[in-house]
Amino acid sequence: MSHWSSLIRDVDDFPKPGILFKDITPVLANGPAFAQAMAELAAPWRGLGLDAVIGIESRGFILGAALAHELQVGFVPVRKPGKLPARTLSLDYALEYGRDRLEIHADALAPGARVVVVDDVLATGGTLRTALALARQQGAEVAGVAVLVELAFLGARAGWDDPAPLVATLAF
Ligand code: PRP
Ligand code: MG
Repeated sequence: MSHWSSLIRDVDDFPKPGILFKDITPVLANGPAFAQAMAELAAPWRGLGLDAVIGIESRGFILGAALAHELQVGFVPVRKPGKLPARTLSLDYALEYGRDRLEIHADALAPGARVVVVDDVLATGGTLRTALALARQQGAEVAGVAVLVELAFLGARAGWDDPAPLVATLAF
């Protein structure tokens, strides 16, 4: 089988004119490719004694739940506003195309919990930075950040000043 990354599809002008969208749905739809991608995503985080994976809505949920299952740890969702039922912590952030807010349940993580934060794509890094801040607001220790695809041409890694290591399985 060819490498799973060959199934990533470029879509022009989505969600706005001028943006080249990296579509991972063909990877997810192919069993062996999805399994290969998850094995690569999980490899750096095995044996670290993590307590939970934090996944960011929406595409980070798909990878986050699968990663938690791979690592045999819990899954904690970071969600878009108004979706979580109990008391939340909330932070605004700038997106590659627009603004948004993310929330986490205030009691989702025990103080000192060791977590990895996962998302599908690193673009500007604003989404991940917000999720890290939410995790730390409740005393979690962020062991690292895992992304499937890093849009390296946007330069987020150069400005990544967070102590948590940023690990991408693939960079464009
Ligand atoms: C996309 C992507 C990442 C984020 C990356 O999410 O899934 O979460 O943008 O951008 P950044 O590094 O500039 O913050 P988006 O909220 O657009 O959509 P989704 O609900 O499909 O995940
Ligand atoms: Mg997203």
